[in-house]
Amino acid sequence: MTMFPRVVERIAELREMLDAERANGRRVGFVPTMGSLHAGHASLMHRARAENDVVLVSIFVNPLQFGPKEDFAAYPRDLDRDLEVCAGEGVDIVFHPDVDEMYPEPNRVTVAVGEIGSILEGRTRPGHFDGVATVVSKLFNIAGPCRAYFGQKDAQQLVVIERLALALDFPVEVVGCPTVREPDGLAMSSRNVYLEGADRRAAAALKAALDSGALLIADGERSGAKVREVMAARIDAEPRATLDYAVCVDPEDLVEAAEVDGPVLLAVAARVGKARLIDNMNVSPAPSRGARTGTSRSEASITKG
Ligand code: PAJ
Repeated sequence: MTMFPRVVERIAELREMLDAERANGRRVGFVPTMGSLHAGHASLMHRARAENDVVLVSIFVNPLQFGPKEDFAAYPRDLDRDLEVCAGEGVDIVFHPDVDEMYPEPNRVTVAVGEIGSILEGRTRPGHFDGVATVVSKLFNIAGPCRAYFGQKDAQQLVVIERLALALDFPVEVVGCPTVREPDGLAMSSRNVYLEGADRRAAAALKAALDSGALLIADGERSGAKVREVMAARIDAEPRATLDYAVCVDPEDLVEAAEVDGPVLLAVAARVGKARLIDNMNVSPAPSRGARTGTSRSEASITKG
C-alpha cells in the first residue's frame, strides 16, 4: 500500500517534527518545489529517498521570484496530484505553507545574490534569483536538511544555490541532478502545460539547438561565438520560437567562453507560444589530438544534464 506523505502547513509544526527526527539521528533530505510535479521533480525525490532517512518536499509558489508581468497567478497548482507523485516516491513530509505563513509581513529582508543574478535569466527576470535565494534560505533555516536536491534543468539556479550555501554557511550539501526529458528531448517543466499543439512540437527546437552546439564541439569547433551562432540559428529556424539567448559559458561563473578549451555549459532560452522555456547541456571537448594518443575528434563527451 502506498503511504501518503504527511502535509504540514505551519513553520513551527515542521520545525518540531524535524527537530525530533534529527534528535533521533535521522538525516533529512529536502526537495524544494513549486508543485505541479512531474517526472523531473520525481527524480529528485527518488535520489533523496535513496540517500536520506527522512524525505521532505516543499510545495510553495514563491511570489518573490515572479516579476510583475509573470505568471504567478496562473502558475499551475494541483495539490492532490502532487501528493500522489510524492507518495509514489516514498516522500515522508510535504511542507505546503500559504503566502502569509512564509511572508507574514511585507518582506523587508531579502538575500541579494549579486552579479550572477543579473546575467542570462536575470536579464529577462530582474530580481528573480534574489527571490529564489530568499525563499531557499528561509526553507533551509526552517527544515535544516543535510542534503538538498536541485535540477540541472535550472543550471543558473543551481549555481546560485551552491554559492548561497557557501557564502552564508548553510550546513547543507547541495546536490545537482540530471535533467529529465520528454521522448522528443523537451526538458520537463511545469510550464510545458502552456504549450499546445504546434507549439508543443516546436518546443523541441531548444534541445535540438543544444545538440547542434554539442555536435559542433565534438567536431572540433573551439570558438564560443561559432557555437552560439549555430544554436541561435537552429532556434531561429523554428518560426514559432522567439530566441531570448543562446550562450556557451563557463559552467562555474556562467561567463561567456571565448574558447571551448575545457568544460562549457550550453544554455538557451526562447519563447514558444505562451511559454518561456529554458534548457542547457554540459559539454566537454575531447583532449586535442596528440595530447593523448588514440583520441579522435568525435570523442567529445556530452554530460547529460
Ligand atoms: P520548480 O520549478 O518546481 O523546480 C523544483 C526543482 O525541480 C528545481 O530544482 C528544478 O531544477 C527541478 N526540475 C525541474 N524540472 C526538471 C527536470 N526536467 N529534470 C530535473 N529536475 C527538474 O525551481 C523551483 O521550483 C523554484 O525556483 C524553487 C527552487 C522551489 C524555489 O522557489
